[in-house]
Amino acid sequence: MFMKLSAVAVTLLAAFTGVSHAAPLDVYAPPLLTPTAGEVLIVGNQQNVTWDTSRPPQHITNRTGTLVLAKGGIQDYKNPLATGFDILDGWHIITVPNVQEGDDYQLVLFGDSGNYGPKFSIRY
Ligand SMILES: *[C@@H]1O[C@H](CO)[C@@H](O)[C@H](O)[C@H]1NC(C)=O
Ligand SMILES: *[C@@H]1O[C@H](CO)[C@@H](O)[C@H](O)[C@H]1NC(C)=O
Repeated sequence: MFMKLSAVAVTLLAAFTGVSHAAPLDVYAPPLLTPTAGEVLIVGNQQNVTWDTSRPPQHITNRTGTLVLAKGGIQDYKNPLATGFDILDGWHIITVPNVQEGDDYQLVLFGDSGNYGPKFSIRY
């Protein structure tokens, strides 16, 4: 009985992973270019956030872009730095938020899925 059930479970699992690998051809998460690794951003300053739009897929499910700040890999998704821009713009100006100083900040660019940029610092 147990053997039979686990065999079914394995089959189902294989079916699901097969589907998830095959389906999202149009997931678009262009790589962030700036701020660059190790860059120091100052609270209150304007920052040009840029990403590489050179190889977009033919069909993009959701072109609405959102930029979220992450510290230590944890996203502050409740307070996006910007949203509502076109993911194909390739850049967006943000104001560096008044957060605690640190060297483990990253930006996450969302279109269809989130994409982490390089690690930078924020200082007062
Ligand atoms: C931001 O950077 C992009 C890419 O270098 C550039 O095309 C754009 O003009 C910049 N925007 C501003 C406001 O400086
Ligand atoms: C598109 O993506 C944005 C995040 O950038 C999200 O807030 C929005 O709900 C998405 N729209 C659809 C139709 O999935």
